[in-house]
Amino acid sequence: MNIQTVSTTPFADQKPGTSGLRKKVPTFQQPHYLENFVQSIFDSLEGFEGQTLVVGGDGRYYNREAIQLILRMAAANGFGRVLVGQGGILSTPAASCIIRKNNAFGGIILSASHNPGGPKEDFGIKYNTGNGGPAPEKVTDAIFARSKVIDQYKILDAPAIDLDQLGQFSLGAMTVEVIDSVADYAELMESLFDFDRIRQLLTSGQFRMCMDSLHAVTGPYAHALFEGTLGAPAGTVQNGIPLEDFGGGHPDPNLVYAHDLVEVLFGENAPDFGAASDGDGDRNMILGRHFFVNPSDSLAVLAANAKLVPGYKDGLAGIARSMPTSQAADRVAKRLGIEAYETPTGWKFFGNLLDAGKATLCGEESFGTGSNHVREKDGLWAVLFWLNILAVRQESVEQIVTEHWQQYGRNFYSRHDYEGVDSDRAATLMQGVYEQMPTLKGKKFGTYEVAFTDDFSYTDPIDGSISTKQGVRIGFTDDSRIVFRLSGTGTQGATLRLYLESYEPNIAKHQLDPQKALADLIKIADEIAGIHTHTGMDKPTVIT
Ligand code: G6P
Ligand code: ZN
Repeated sequence: MNIQTVSTTPFADQKPGTSGLRKKVPTFQQPHYLENFVQSIFDSLEGFEGQTLVVGGDGRYYNREAIQLILRMAAANGFGRVLVGQGGILSTPAASCIIRKNNAFGGIILSASHNPGGPKEDFGIKYNTGNGGPAPEKVTDAIFARSKVIDQYKILDAPAIDLDQLGQFSLGAMTVEVIDSVADYAELMESLFDFDRIRQLLTSGQFRMCMDSLHAVTGPYAHALFEGTLGAPAGTVQNGIPLEDFGGGHPDPNLVYAHDLVEVLFGENAPDFGAASDGDGDRNMILGRHFFVNPSDSLAVLAANAKLVPGYKDGLAGIARSMPTSQAADRVAKRLGIEAYETPTGWKFFGNLLDAGKATLCGEESFGTGSNHVREKDGLWAVLFWLNILAVRQESVEQIVTEHWQQYGRNFYSRHDYEGVDSDRAATLMQGVYEQMPTLKGKKFGTYEVAFTDDFSYTDPIDGSISTKQGVRIGFTDDSRIVFRLSGTGTQGATLRLYLESYEPNIAKHQLDPQKALADLIKIADEIAGIHTHTGMDKPTVIT
């Protein structure tokens, strides 16, 4: 066995963002770059000798090379076994499921989620802990600290493993098991949802669905579940073969980037139900016929209907949402008499609440929904949850959401993204907002009066850790909100996110277009932040 210890020098830019380290592929291809980061992960962990590591990714460009390198480094660093998805493929929720099922020490997931892939596009790597969830900040901070001083890494000199062949292989003293990417995850889904009823719905001839995997990782999972086990006709899953560049597309399930699906669902003879997922399979978008379900509403509807689903029939312990997500789910929690939690953006903040049994369902405005079944958000889980509800209620998506608004009132919601903004300009904009914060309370903008402003900070109720500077909230006396935040997942320039929310109890106004319902708040946001002046853009690049 030939373990090499290689001298290296640190890179200054290896700080993990909202969800791991994401950079352009050429950055990762620099000599020692990925090695440094992987060794920094291992150096920040203790007690993994002889233990199991799970490794897989979303199949994007550089996935296979990265996995081969991680396998050799895991062997050199003393892991006992690595479970790797066939072809290097594991969706993020499947990786979480496999870590948990096998009591693994942790996992390394290769993905830049919804960012484009290809030789000049994005790549990413993140570490998940033994609970199956993204490493908490104290771990990512330790990894970053280590990356700044690292001077050597260990790697085994060994030939590549055949990732396409299922089975066990030796790599030095370590065992590599190439496992079926889908089986464990599919089994977990079957344990949660009423597959018989969903099968009846999908084979009834009365219901058509269309699932767009956007040439990303959920293809094999969706084929196996919907067209395989659940009997939906062939062709139900479109763009179902994972490609290294996602077919040149942007694998983000929103109204802009999943436009083909949107056209089908809003076109003539539209199917009853449409869904899409992102690069690594943790996000979801839900559509009905001629109807878009806002992700914040989706969380609220799933929570309100959870008892219809076998895995949640005994009720929910609590509901957690990220701060910029609308407060619709809080209204459901209140009626159910359970706790509602508000966390910073980033799935990792739900981990402790889930582990402690305080929350059962979690969701984010950024098309993420999930539960305590794994420790990541889960795109196909959300699709199955919706199908289970539709199968039981025998109503359309639009009817279900509209009835929800009638019962709870409607939280109008929209997010405006300004992408690719010059980083200095974005910082100046935020600085301007910070400076005005102390003067805003009590100020009137037309009929809106500012009730409070803060830069959101969160104290984890389980371990007491504090996360500050998570986004500026401007709350109004009628419960409306404007939130300003800079994205933590981009790789180029800055992305300004403006989140807008108002509450409408009056049923007669529920059919308004959210952009119209929120028009005054949109103007107020620009008045406060000077968005158009600072960004030089006259409109957002993406509106959700
Ligand atoms: C990833 C994270 C989410 C987060 C989203 C948006 O998908 O897993 O938890 O909500 O990115 O983050 P951003 O910092 O770009 O707004
Ligand atoms: Zn993702």
